[in-house]
Amino acid sequence: MAVLNWTAEQFGTDVDICDGQHKELFRLFNDLYDTVNSGDQTGLQEKLDLFRDFVADHFKTEERLMREMGYQYYEGHKAQHDSFQANIGSIQADGLNSDVIGGWAAWWLSHIPSSDRPYGPVLRAINWD
Ligand SMILES: [Fe+2]
Ligand SMILES: [Fe+2]
Repeated sequence: MAVLNWTAEQFGTDVDICDGQHKELFRLFNDLYDTVNSGDQTGLQEKLDLFRDFVADHFKTEERLMREMGYQYYEGHKAQHDSFQANIGSIQADGLNSDVIGGWAAWWLSHIPSSDRPYGPVLRAINWD
């Protein structure tokens, strides 16, 4: 079973581009997670690279939107992104294990609900008022 399951109740931001990216990110992450936890690690480095590239694109998107809206929590949010990127950038496929990938899952379970979801109402207010 997938470790990260996107639902609007838990992860929805009501910002379509971000919700779409989070769904794709979960798909890539779940595939990586399953591979790390399986006996067969064929293609692991490629999956890790795909995930890292997608994370970089996603963080760029969110940071651009937050800058454009003059979001007051931009600096702290970007610091969380930078720290996660440094973490995933420092690990190669042969250093990936259940503990590491479990920590990454926990990061998403916390970051999206507590840091991403709050930008939704701010962004919508600026776009639509
Ligand atoms: Fe996000
Ligand atoms: Fe974020």
